[in-house]
Amino acid sequence: MGGGGREHTLCWALRRENPDADLYCAPGNPGTAELARNLPIQADDLDRIADAADMHGIDLTVVGPEAPLARGLADRLRAEGRAVFGPSAAAAQLESSKAFAKEVMASAGIPTAASRAFDDLDAALAYVGRHPEPLVVKASGLAGGKGAVVCATRREAADAVRAMLGERSFGVAGQTIVVESFLQGEEISVLAITDGRELELLPVSQDHKRLLEGDRGPNTGGMGAYTPVAVATPALLDRVRREVLLPALEEMRHRETPYRGLLYAGLMIDADDAPWVVEFNCRLGDPETQVVLPLVSRGLTDCLRRAARGDAPSRLGLSGDASVTTVLASRGYPDAPETGAPIAIPARLPDGVIVFHAGTSRGADGVLRVAGGRVLNVTAVAPTFEEARRLSRETAAAIEFEGKIYRHDIGWREAARRMEVGSER
Ligand code: AMP
Ligand code: GLY
Repeated sequence: MGGGGREHTLCWALRRENPDADLYCAPGNPGTAELARNLPIQADDLDRIADAADMHGIDLTVVGPEAPLARGLADRLRAEGRAVFGPSAAAAQLESSKAFAKEVMASAGIPTAASRAFDDLDAALAYVGRHPEPLVVKASGLAGGKGAVVCATRREAADAVRAMLGERSFGVAGQTIVVESFLQGEEISVLAITDGRELELLPVSQDHKRLLEGDRGPNTGGMGAYTPVAVATPALLDRVRREVLLPALEEMRHRETPYRGLLYAGLMIDADDAPWVVEFNCRLGDPETQVVLPLVSRGLTDCLRRAARGDAPSRLGLSGDASVTTVLASRGYPDAPETGAPIAIPARLPDGVIVFHAGTSRGADGVLRVAGGRVLNVTAVAPTFEEARRLSRETAAAIEFEGKIYRHDIGWREAARRMEVGSER
């Protein structure tokens, strides 16, 4: 379910393991159309999805985006006896309500920024007026990755509070807000497949949320990602399991809303190598999926199917390669991307490079065109990080469309770390 770069990648990975399966994607995109049969159904149209699942005899549904999960797609299909990879609406609140997620973390003793939730403007302004700087103001509901405002000053934070609670700039998503302390450190994305009790981790990756090079400019849905990330040592991941993921699963079981599917922990790793939760998401990351799934060499379908049925996830085989994804976006992204320009992708791509479609469309004339803000995701897989980075960047340069924008510096923190280590030797 879904129609972006994450879903093209899911189709690619599922097709690679199941060359003969009947694979459908709803609504899909021109990329998924080459691997699956696209069904013209939006991911949040629960009735039509349930009908299509019946009609086509679907035995496993994998849900990409958060919105249909928050609306109860998994509950609906499960009630009809179907295996679904994705949490119930109650469990998806870990993403769809930041106030809920904070409350779960507090109950379970999971390390996260100190915070308070508000739905009253005056109370929020009073709290912000006494809060140390910098601080963060967030819309509690789903806001497509754009609902968090990192504020250098109390004054900026007061403006953000007034916009959300006073002017309803995020609509109902900002009806409740969360005000929290700023966390310093390096951000990583930990993705875990779970049946509600046990976990299988995917390779850890780092997203690039800011629009501009050097991590400046506004937050976006993500401008690129890479894996592996050197800060994600086995010792750190062991702590993440023990201090974050397992307590979250236990708390959700205790509340009788077990979490089944993909649990995404967005973590800040501080100077003492301790993990702090920035956010939970109830689905695979986008563009993290585009770097991570190509490295799963074995067992993805089986693992998803087992977790969907409530059985302990099986072990994944991993290739051990490095992977870098550069997002090609359209001028004006994230606010008002231009659409309609024809796209030219080189007929021959270098070995290890895969171009995933995100915001594209193919009209009756057969021409591939820009149809959204994030247009294409250029993933390069190689034995070394440097090679993957070079291939992704070079292919990003070789693809052409009017208004193409992208970051040339995906992976810069890792590259800088490697330079440092190199010079110490
Ligand atoms: P969220 O919507 O919670 O994922 O936040 C979006 C982005 O804002 C995160 O990926 C971080 O880069 C940044 N952010 C959110 N909360 C904090 C925080 N407490 N401290 C520092 N950065 C944050
Ligand atoms: N790339 C961030 C997210 O999927 O939420």
